[in-house]
Amino acid sequence: MKKLNILLLTFIISLLVISCSKLKDELPTPIEASVHPEGFSKVGNSDFHGKFIQQHAWNLKMCKQCHGTNYNGGTSSVSCLSCHNNPGGPEGCGTCHEIGKDLNGNTSTAERGVGAHTVHLLGNSKGKIVSCAECHNVPADIYQQGHMDTEANSEVMFNSYFANIKTNEPVTSDYDSQLQLFSPNPTYNSVNLSCSNTYCHGYFKNGNLTNAPVWNNSSSNACGTCHGDPTKATLAEKSLPKTTANGGTHVNVLTCSNCHGGVVNSNLQFVDASKHIDGKLNVFGNDIDF
Ligand code: HEC
Ligand code: HEC
Ligand code: HEC
Ligand code: HEC
Ligand code: HEC
Ligand code: HEC
Repeated sequence: MKKLNILLLTFIISLLVISCSKLKDELPTPIEASVHPEGFSKVGNSDFHGKFIQQHAWNLKMCKQCHGTNYNGGTSSVSCLSCHNNPGGPEGCGTCHEIGKDLNGNTSTAERGVGAHTVHLLGNSKGKIVSCAECHNVPADIYQQGHMDTEANSEVMFNSYFANIKTNEPVTSDYDSQLQLFSPNPTYNSVNLSCSNTYCHGYFKNGNLTNAPVWNNSSSNACGTCHGDPTKATLAEKSLPKTTANGGTHVNVLTCSNCHGGVVNSNLQFVDASKHIDGKLNVFGNDIDF
């Protein structure tokens, strides 16, 4: 705020100077000295307004004073909407959030702010697209409590559907009475950035219950990590769920596409990735609870 107060003061003083030194009918516009530093509009500049806002706890409200309550110009006559022309203007979600880029502009998937966002959120060749709400509380507007808070990192919570799907419920047609009910208890570890106990990554019937993928390590989703055994030789062997040999009930047959042809072909390429990791088992052409 301090920096802004100084800006404001300079602005007011310059108004006063102009109105005293010039004739009354000469309006005090345009103002010669800019209220903002030179680089305010230049992406990458240390004075860039995006950086300035970030350094001031993401408080956009202070801009409204001169740029209008709807950011459409106000007394400054410079509309934010000329550049931020998506719904919501500067307060629109896309102003600060871009898939594949974190709030600090990082793009490497090794960065925790980037991590596996892209693979979950964009056209994924291996599974259904996941929405923000599966892993975060999503704010309805930017000033909602809990959003843009002072915590160092973002809160990851699995309050939604996918991570919590139960399998082997007695009501399902494929109920196996010798197996337990698989009821996930999804958790995120913000120290080693792993998530565990999620339906999506293996906490399901005949899946790998203890799998704990690491958010910023792309080898975490290798075939066999969620169901099967990644150390095996072929894709079919890698992905085969637990059979009686390892305490499970899945048939010990490797020609997956014979029964799961809605999802994979005979080379185990995904023919419809949107049916994989979607919460339903696709078997013999039907999508069922299992
Ligand atoms: C001349 C065009 C232009 C105008 C006018 C403009 N912006 Fe921006 N703004 C940008 C660009 C470009 C970016 C950077 C986008 C990027 O990094 O990909 C940006 C970034 C931002 C960010 C995001 C910061 C971040 O690091 O994620 C905020 C918030 C923002 N502007 C608010 C405003 C507000 C409020 C106004 C009006 C008071 C405004 N902008 C006026 C072009 C503009
Ligand atoms: C005290 C009034 C005032 C406040 C507060 C203010 N601005 Fe401005 N802004 C102006 C005026 C006046 C201009 C017109 C051009 C100039 O004088 O730089 C302007 C111009 C701009 C421009 C265009 C700059 C250029 O080089 O063309 C951007 C971007 C901008 N403001 C962003 C913001 C953002 C973001 C905030 C909030 C952090 C903000 N402004 C707060 C008065 C203000
Ligand atoms: C002015 C910049 C800005 C805008 C605009 C913005 N956000 Fe955020 N968002 C943030 C910041 C800062 C965080 C906190 C990141 C952290 O804690 O490390 C955040 C965090 C999040 C998170 C992660 C969960 C959390 O609370 O930590 C989600 C999801 C999110 N925002 C969604 C949205 C949605 C949806 C919108 C539009 C309604 C939106 N954001 C608009 C800056 C913004
Ligand atoms: C599969 C789960 C998952 C999904 C889906 C997801 N996130 Fe995240 N998000 C995470 C994890 C994990 C982190 C890293 C948290 C940490 O740093 O410990 C994170 C971090 C963030 C951060 C803070 C990092 C930064 O600087 O940007 C923001 C903001 C965020 N997510 C917003 C979103 C938004 C917006 C969406 C939807 C467009 C989304 N996330 C979807 C899991 C997810
Ligand atoms: C002969 C038909 C058949 C073949 C071949 C087959 N499956 Fe299955 N699969 C099923 C049936 C039936 C179920 C549901 C069984 C149950 O839930 O008890 C199932 C369930 C699954 C499940 C959910 C977990 C479970 O066991 O319930 C996964 C994952 C799966 N199959 C993957 C594969 C993969 C990968 C292959 C190839 C390596 C494969 N299946 C080969 C019939 C088959
Ligand atoms: C990120 C975890 C994960 C990975 C990695 C994964 N799967 Fe799956 N897979 C699942 C889940 C969860 C199911 C349970 C059914 C569902 O939700 O679609 C499943 C089910 C299946 C099925 C049964 C049909 C169906 O409904 O989807 C086949 C076949 C299958 N996987 C093949 C593979 C193959 C082949 C690989 C490696 C190339 C693989 N999977 C890697 C999570 C995974």
